[in-house]
Amino acid sequence: MNVPFIDLARLTKTMKSEVLADWSTVFDKIEFVGGPRVAEVEKRLCAALGVNKAIACANGTDALIIGLQALGVRHGSRVALPNMTFWATYEAIAQLGATPVLIDIDPDDLQMSFSEFTKAYEAYRFDAAILVHLFGWASKHHQDFRKFCAEKNIALLEDGAQCFGVTVDGKPVLAGATVGTTSFYPAKVVGGCVDGGAIFADTEALEKLIRSLCNHGRSAHYSYDRVGWNSRMGGLQAAFLNHMVARADDIVANRRRAAEWYRKRLAGTPKLRIYGPPAGHGENGYLAVFTVDDSVDVNAVTDKLKAKGIGFGRTYPETMDSQPPAVKAIKFGSLEHSKRFCKSALNLPLFYGITDEELEASASALVEILQG
Ligand SMILES: Cc1ncc(COP(=O)(O)O)c(C=O)c1O
Repeated sequence: MNVPFIDLARLTKTMKSEVLADWSTVFDKIEFVGGPRVAEVEKRLCAALGVNKAIACANGTDALIIGLQALGVRHGSRVALPNMTFWATYEAIAQLGATPVLIDIDPDDLQMSFSEFTKAYEAYRFDAAILVHLFGWASKHHQDFRKFCAEKNIALLEDGAQCFGVTVDGKPVLAGATVGTTSFYPAKVVGGCVDGGAIFADTEALEKLIRSLCNHGRSAHYSYDRVGWNSRMGGLQAAFLNHMVARADDIVANRRRAAEWYRKRLAGTPKLRIYGPPAGHGENGYLAVFTVDDSVDVNAVTDKLKAKGIGFGRTYPETMDSQPPAVKAIKFGSLEHSKRFCKSALNLPLFYGITDEELEASASALVEILQG
């Protein structure tokens, strides 16, 4: 049996006729940039994610750049981030002329290590930080990060590109974040039909600033309070996203079930470590995350999965500090846990609508390979 790593059509086909009908209206009304559907998606995002203000923008990378800028990050600032994340987190800091400070991960929850973060602060006194909620859950020290940053006056941005639907102690993880962001890259848990993103703000003042930054720094149509960006959403994407956000609970429940299924099925498999959310966290099933033992060559495993027709991912195979532009970054400590994880990271197929047969085919293929 062939199993793709991801099959978006299982989800998109459930909404095709409704979306096409909406797109026809958007087309007739020329709602190409902004418009009522964008306002509607912002409202839906506030309700779904428990945030006060939502500003739709062009992609999750812009959301990070603009969110950091709104928090005062500029040339010469120092900004902490985990050494294992998607490169956009690093890029956003570098694009503002700030210096990234790379922090190791916690080997158990795979998020930025809180103890390394506090030690790095003593050494480098960074001005801001990006806490990334990776892989479908968040740090077990989520609240400690917020508290520490508030006490030390560190501007904290929470990169929620992967965390739509994640909860901590029953509350959406981004609720209460000063500034949060997300990505609507189509493969995300809640994805768009083209690149998209959103920035979340706790206060009206931040919302106003972020809206202006997303729209050329405008104060009026031809008046500009600041130098901003062109990062906006249009009606076609918003219409699609409104249908997607309306289905978010079902999407998350479906993916979460698959993630839990893998953990149960693969528990006790020799040479395999299985990761999942810390106690008290509700995951969103973004990824099925594993590492193989040092004795196993992960590339040989993926070659064999490929030969068996089983899709796979390696999120992430490399750390930030190993990328050539990171010569300019500050690297705190040995960064050993992030390096070690990346060497052996492995993901099995997980998407909305994956069947039990596909889950079993994927899990049993991996078990066979590890036994062989
Ligand atoms: C953790 C993280 N941050 C930022 C981004 C950037 O989002 P986008 O691709 O929408 O620019 C992504 C994903 O693509 C991501 O996974």
